[in-house]
Amino acid sequence: MEYDPFSPALAEDPYPTYRWLRDNAPVYRNVERGFYALTRYQDVQAALLDAETFLTSHGTTLEGLEQGFDTLLTTDPPEHGWNRKILARRFSAGRVQELEPRIRAVAVDLLEAARETGRIDLVEDFSAQLPLTIIAELLALPTDQRARVHELCFRLLEREITDPPGVRPAASVQAGQELAQLFLALVAQRRAHPGEDLVSLLVHTPVVDDAGTEHFLDDRQLLGRLIELTFAGHETVKKLVATGAVRLAEAPAARADLIRDPSLIPNAVEEMLRMDPPAQYTGRWTSRDIEFHGTVIPADSRVLLVIGSACHDERVYPDPERMDVRREVGRQLGFGYGIHLCVGAALARLEAKVAFEELLARYPDYQVDHAGVVRTYSSNQRGLKHLPLNLQSATSPATRW
Ligand code: HEM
Repeated sequence: MEYDPFSPALAEDPYPTYRWLRDNAPVYRNVERGFYALTRYQDVQAALLDAETFLTSHGTTLEGLEQGFDTLLTTDPPEHGWNRKILARRFSAGRVQELEPRIRAVAVDLLEAARETGRIDLVEDFSAQLPLTIIAELLALPTDQRARVHELCFRLLEREITDPPGVRPAASVQAGQELAQLFLALVAQRRAHPGEDLVSLLVHTPVVDDAGTEHFLDDRQLLGRLIELTFAGHETVKKLVATGAVRLAEAPAARADLIRDPSLIPNAVEEMLRMDPPAQYTGRWTSRDIEFHGTVIPADSRVLLVIGSACHDERVYPDPERMDVRREVGRQLGFGYGIHLCVGAALARLEAKVAFEELLARYPDYQVDHAGVVRTYSSNQRGLKHLPLNLQSATSPATRW
């Protein structure tokens, strides 16, 4: 069986392919695309933990989406640790908790706006807007630039079925250039007029190395960090909430459980993330030979750590294709693991929790209008572009998930 992350069929339903890989080729090699892939939970976890062997500085996507951007994710140790400190404090669980009232107020406004028509595109009108508003407020991004930034972040990653596989689409390159202009203007403004926002934090906080020497991020580094935060800060939550809403619609008993007992929602969010992690794989580059299951992956190889597969590994999760909102997910790999563990995990969890609390409290009987569901197409992200819901109407026939 072939594993090609650029295959449109894989984007529809990758899980049977992943299962085959776990059972038959736990160290898979795709010569044409030039990568190895690890798909079992234990192997993915071990590689995520071994940042000395598995480097990120050569990029984490097959088509090199990060090229030209200096992100935190694509920084290796020891620089990574010096840089991460600056953001980690701001995104700690405690700091993030302070945002809950604001997140709830935004969620309520967005959902109430749909009451009159009884319909909503859960992606465009809710699951994108909620995290976008919050990250935009944290960055103090001018209101009139938010819609454009959202569109550009989406284009940065999204592919057309007709785009040649393996290379970054021209539209993605263009989107990156426009985002760069926009954020450089913002950096210049905050350099002169600092505030309490994340842009000012990154501009004005020195990076301190192990010897205690300080330096400030240059424009190229600032740009990478800001695009990374803006993109990661909303595209992923957007996808998690939408795919989770579909999973719930297809599991009526689970939905009834959450309506009866909303305290189950945080665990349901973990299960949604396990079932459809928005980041299906993350790439690494080997600094030395390393052996898994008797196969040596040589130094200087690209390796895909297939999180989407690890999260469905029956060696760890019994009956992995079943949505079980009471499942003990344990060590979640949906946010990665090790030194690059998602810095925004606490924020993402809070946003998703509030999103489902408010959605189910208002529209517990929402129904998916399957005819209008549109999936995103990307080499490493799983999610939906459009998810029309009837908020109080009868069922329509289910589509294949
Ligand atoms: C459901 C939502 C999210 C998911 C599924 C997700 C997933 C991930 C994953 C898998 C990684 C590790 C990638 C790797 O090791 O190669 C990561 C890293 C990261 N995430 Fe998230 N993320 C989410 C939300 C967020 C949010 C809301 C933010 C920021 C506000 C954020 C910012 C970052 C950053 C900056 C990194 C790099 C951390 C580092 O290299 O130290 N993410 N995320």
